[in-house]
Amino acid sequence: MSTDQTDVNPNKALWEKGDFTRIAASMRESGEALVESLGITPGLDVLDLGCGDGTTAVPEARLGANVLGVDIARNLVAAGNARAESFGLTNLRFQEGDATDLKDVAADSFDLVVSIFGAMFAPRPFDVAKEVVRVTRPGGRIVMGNWIPNDPTFVAQLLRVSTAYAPPPPEGFISPMTWGIEENVLERFGSAGVPAENVTCERTMFLFQTPSTPSEYLADFRDYYGPTMNAYAAAAADGREAELHAELEELVEEHNTAAPGEGTSIEAAYLRVTVMV
Ligand SMILES: C[S@@+](CC[C@H](N)C(=O)[O-])C[C@H]1O[C@@H](n2cnc3c(N)ncnc32)[C@H](O)[C@@H]1O
Repeated sequence: MSTDQTDVNPNKALWEKGDFTRIAASMRESGEALVESLGITPGLDVLDLGCGDGTTAVPEARLGANVLGVDIARNLVAAGNARAESFGLTNLRFQEGDATDLKDVAADSFDLVVSIFGAMFAPRPFDVAKEVVRVTRPGGRIVMGNWIPNDPTFVAQLLRVSTAYAPPPPEGFISPMTWGIEENVLERFGSAGVPAENVTCERTMFLFQTPSTPSEYLADFRDYYGPTMNAYAAAAADGREAELHAELEELVEEHNTAAPGEGTSIEAAYLRVTVMV
């Protein structure tokens, strides 16, 4: 296989660079609660897109759905399959794929497509909307969780600070955060043939919880979360790493609601998008 620079997909490289399983460990309880709200019944065919190592795909399968997890990062697909095996979930499998072009997935295959903080990170959002609609059966549903730009809660602020230290994006780059704006969501699904009255958007809270201290938790973002890793690399190149770290330490401390010595608990708001196909 060629290793020519032109073969590098920056979207894939970003997520394979780190190890999102380290962050996903703090998302399990809230991920399960989110899945409880999806009305999953045994036998439902579910696609979990941008699934990571299965924060939501595992609980979907535990409720009896037949679940396919698709993610662009090879390491996370491997981690997901290892988790499915360790839990004995034969109705859950993970495979590599790109939300902008689900070429290995047939049209009208799923009753429910779930993408929690996943497909929002793919480039070409209009292609993403077209693809998720294509693979959903008529009468089926799509549920997306998208971080909201400029929201005062944790993740939007973490990404805002990280972006401020990162090099300017290439021309034509569309920020993933635009998926957190209702107008864009309606336009994207509208162009995929879904009328606005079939789309609902609701600001909802997600809780990150870990036994790690706030400093340890921030170190996980610094060392394992692609977008923050890039910000630290860019800041280091400019001699501003300590400045970035201090800004993020303050952010984590400010948003942590756990009592001292009780780990870290941080709420973050997202736009919950439901699309009736
Ligand atoms: C913030 S993580 C969320 C993972 C998982 N949904 C969870 O809640 O734990 C974003 C995920 O989207 C995946 N991703 C990014 N771009 C993608 C694309 N174009 N197609 C499929 N997955 C993608 C990443 O590899 C990563 O696993």
